[in-house]
Amino acid sequence: MDSPIYLDYNATTPIDPEVVTEMLPYIQTHFGNPSSSYGPGRHNKQAIEKARSQVAGLIGALPEEIVFTSCGTESNNLAICGIAFANQEKGKHIITSSIEHPAVTEVCRYLASLGWEITWLPVDKYGTANPEDVKKAIRPDTVLVSIMHANNEVGTIQPIAEIGVIAKENNIIFHTDAAQSVGKIETNVNALGVDLLTIAGHKLYAPKGIGALYIRKGVNIENLMFGAGHEMGRRPGTENVPYIVSLGKACELARENDVIVHEHIFQMRQRLLEGLKQKSVSPITVNANLENCLPNTLSISFANIEAHTLASVIGGQVCISTGSACHSGSVEISQVLKAMKVDHKRAAGTVRISTGKFTTPEEIDRTVQIISEAIQKLITL
Ligand SMILES: Cc1ncc(COP(=O)(O)O)c(C=O)c1O
Repeated sequence: MDSPIYLDYNATTPIDPEVVTEMLPYIQTHFGNPSSSYGPGRHNKQAIEKARSQVAGLIGALPEEIVFTSCGTESNNLAICGIAFANQEKGKHIITSSIEHPAVTEVCRYLASLGWEITWLPVDKYGTANPEDVKKAIRPDTVLVSIMHANNEVGTIQPIAEIGVIAKENNIIFHTDAAQSVGKIETNVNALGVDLLTIAGHKLYAPKGIGALYIRKGVNIENLMFGAGHEMGRRPGTENVPYIVSLGKACELARENDVIVHEHIFQMRQRLLEGLKQKSVSPITVNANLENCLPNTLSISFANIEAHTLASVIGGQVCISTGSACHSGSVEISQVLKAMKVDHKRAAGTVRISTGKFTTPEEIDRTVQIISEAIQKLITL
């Protein structure tokens, strides 16, 4: 049986074969502990430092501003709790948005349970936060603004550079969760004006289980784990050398091929949208403003279709996500769509289709065919 067409690159990406080639020697041969002073240890230490430079190069940072972590979730935890704990004397107020990934919302909820106050900013119908709302929410005790760069479900890109200016004017530390944007759009930390930025390896063709956090030089942050002095004293634990090497290579590739990849994933997304508009018998609503959206992401709602039924009907042929989950017969709408005030019926018909650098025009055309046929069947049932 053919494997299904994969169009869920926002969930995770396959590992790039060039990344596999780069990391394999560190699984098979180079096993030295990077903290050891003899040859094999030093070799691996150098490999880590090369990877640090590659990651830094992609986002316009200095190598010493990159800390390797186990995933995007860990990077968000370190950023948010680390800044909150380090700045308790100044205050205990954090500003975030209502469409963040649970890797941010749950950290904020945890801090709220310890006494921090969280302001959850609203978003408009496309899921965009308003910089003016950030300005209004700032208080003397605000210690952190954390707003994602691009949303994982609908792809909306936030006005990070504008928020960065406001944060800087008010002397407030600014974190962005860029797990979805790195490798899909430009993510230069200076252009964005951020102090901390989260990277998740498995969203950019590295394996699952590796991430990084950019911490601007001079930003005071508390550790969340305690041990030896790895990662410049910020994240103890013997380094996962093969995975660190893989993230470095993935970032190098993302930097080298940025224009081609960004254009390709956009072309594939547009081909899909045009195809579905022409062939689907169910009217389509696009949930984001595509002028201000990740180039690979298409969140659309089909009228009178339950997305989870559609996803399960086509699941053997095409992998996509839905904007709702079905629990014991009732449909639960995602928090992001709720925050965008998408009505229940439209939300229940929402799918997220996300293209990647390995997506082909043939796969897109086949997907249009499969989805259109499935919708035709579901409507006539
Ligand atoms: C926006 C966003 N932040 C954070 C994460 C978590 O990253 P990880 O899976 O590496 O922990 C994800 C993963 O889906 C994400 O989409």
